[in-house]
Amino acid sequence: MEPASVQDVADGLRGVGYLPGESTALVSYLATRLDKPVLVEGPAGVGKTELAKALAKYLDRSLIRLQCYEGLDEAKALYEWNYRKQLLRIQAEREGEAWDTVRGDIFGEEFLLARPLMTAISSPEPVVLLIDEIDKTDQEFEAMLLELLSDFQISIPELGRIEARTQPVVLLTTNNSRELTEALKRRCLYLWLDYPTPEHELEIVRLHAPDLGEAIGRRLVEVVAMVRDLDLKKPPSLAESIDWARALLLLGADDITPDVFTSTMSVIVKHRTDLDIVAERVGVKLGLAPA
Ligand SMILES: Nc1ncnc2c1ncn2[C@@H]1O[C@H](COP(=O)(O)OP(=O)(O)OP(=O)(O)O)[C@@H](O)[C@H]1O
Ligand SMILES: [Mg+2]
Repeated sequence: MEPASVQDVADGLRGVGYLPGESTALVSYLATRLDKPVLVEGPAGVGKTELAKALAKYLDRSLIRLQCYEGLDEAKALYEWNYRKQLLRIQAEREGEAWDTVRGDIFGEEFLLARPLMTAISSPEPVVLLIDEIDKTDQEFEAMLLELLSDFQISIPELGRIEARTQPVVLLTTNNSRELTEALKRRCLYLWLDYPTPEHELEIVRLHAPDLGEAIGRRLVEVVAMVRDLDLKKPPSLAESIDWARALLLLGADDITPDVFTSTMSVIVKHRTDLDIVAERVGVKLGLAPA
């Protein structure tokens, strides 16, 4: 399925439970039409990973996910030879069989283990490829990825070239724990995902916690915004807002009073030192605010 407009994408994403901001819908639309990867950057918990999942659902494609980590290499990302199986094949060598035959055999596709990147480009049906947290890998890995993302092909010395059969929609996410190379950025569309506006956040929170009242919901996003304004080690993300909404529902709270806030703030603030700052600064504000 090919979306026909930005509005199409916006509606489609909403339809699968993802409420996109304007630029999110726009960039997603361009990605599906220009066949360019998207680099999604932003703080933790603002919906980067979820966007890829939602796009896959909306486009009705399978999602192939490569979770990046320090030390990730080609063997885990691209392909590797199935040594065990190759060994077994060699052991089972038939009497008098020439080595050439055996070698031809053990470097055939049957002995190849496809990892996410290879699976994505060799899939007969187009997929959504999520390369999650690319900033956790090193530059060498990035260079390998560049080649793949520009040519959509993989060269395997023993087998030859494997060309993409279909064009995946590719999303790369980063928390910006290291600066990515210009070369990579140049090849991608760029989407900056920030904390949503209070209205947008309220809508997302109520989607995930539908029983939350309008008034307390409004209060919740206000307080979260207030907390984000403090200089914290780890400001609360959307994921924390959603958790907090669910916790408040469960506790039967119908307003965020100073007491309710004090007893539940550890749902949104998760550092010892942050807790102290928040208790002092926000606690006071809440106490003064009209009930
Ligand atoms: N626009 C949105 N519409 C609906 N739900 C959203 C939206 N954005 C985020 N969420 C929800 O917020 C939570 C966090 O999102 P997600 O895991 O995608 O964050 P992330 O940006 O990948 O974070 P991290 O950098 O920590 O991996 C998820 O539960 C997701 O469902
Ligand atoms: Mg993520």
